[in-house]
Amino acid sequence: MVIETRSPEETFAVGKSLGEKAFPGQVLTLTGDLGVGKTVFTQGLAEGLGIEEPVNSPTFTIVQVYEEGRLPFYHFDVYRIGDIEEMDEVGFEEYVMGEGVSLIEWANLIEEILPERRTNILIEKDLTQGFDYRRITIEEQ
Ligand SMILES: Nc1ncnc2c1ncn2[C@@H]1O[C@H](COP(=O)(O)OP(=O)(O)OP(=O)(O)O)[C@@H](O)[C@H]1O
Ligand SMILES: [Mg+2]
Repeated sequence: MVIETRSPEETFAVGKSLGEKAFPGQVLTLTGDLGVGKTVFTQGLAEGLGIEEPVNSPTFTIVQVYEEGRLPFYHFDVYRIGDIEEMDEVGFEEYVMGEGVSLIEWANLIEEILPERRTNILIEKDLTQGFDYRRITIEEQ
């Protein structure tokens, strides 16, 4: 499925609708260049899960856990991952096998340990369509 957005608010809304439909154990991967809108999308998803506290990128922690929503939400940002073993140390496996919803920004960096069943989300710019244009591709794997 491909959705085109032309503002951060629209991308937020796409995330929110996925958050409203998210199910226990769902794993979502989020891929796209710097500044493309991954965090905007994630904030929408969190709102869709009923999380009210602010969600930002877990810059220094790899994973940030939010328990206040309809389901636990595990927000990973693996951009600064040095070695794949760091994922074991933070308990990646347990989170992903758990009952919460896991979302992994920069998931392409840990491809080899991603679960087989997941929802892949790719956000891309296309400057020929304007500065605020984003193409969001959502694919069940
Ligand atoms: N259609 C759009 N969808 C999402 N963001 C948009 C859109 N148009 C413009 N923007 C802007 O793009 C920026 C996206 O920033 P955001 O922090 O979400 O990116 P990111 O992918 O998380 O970046 P990083 O990889 O650095 O963490 C924001 O400044 C937002 O206002
Ligand atoms: Mg971000």
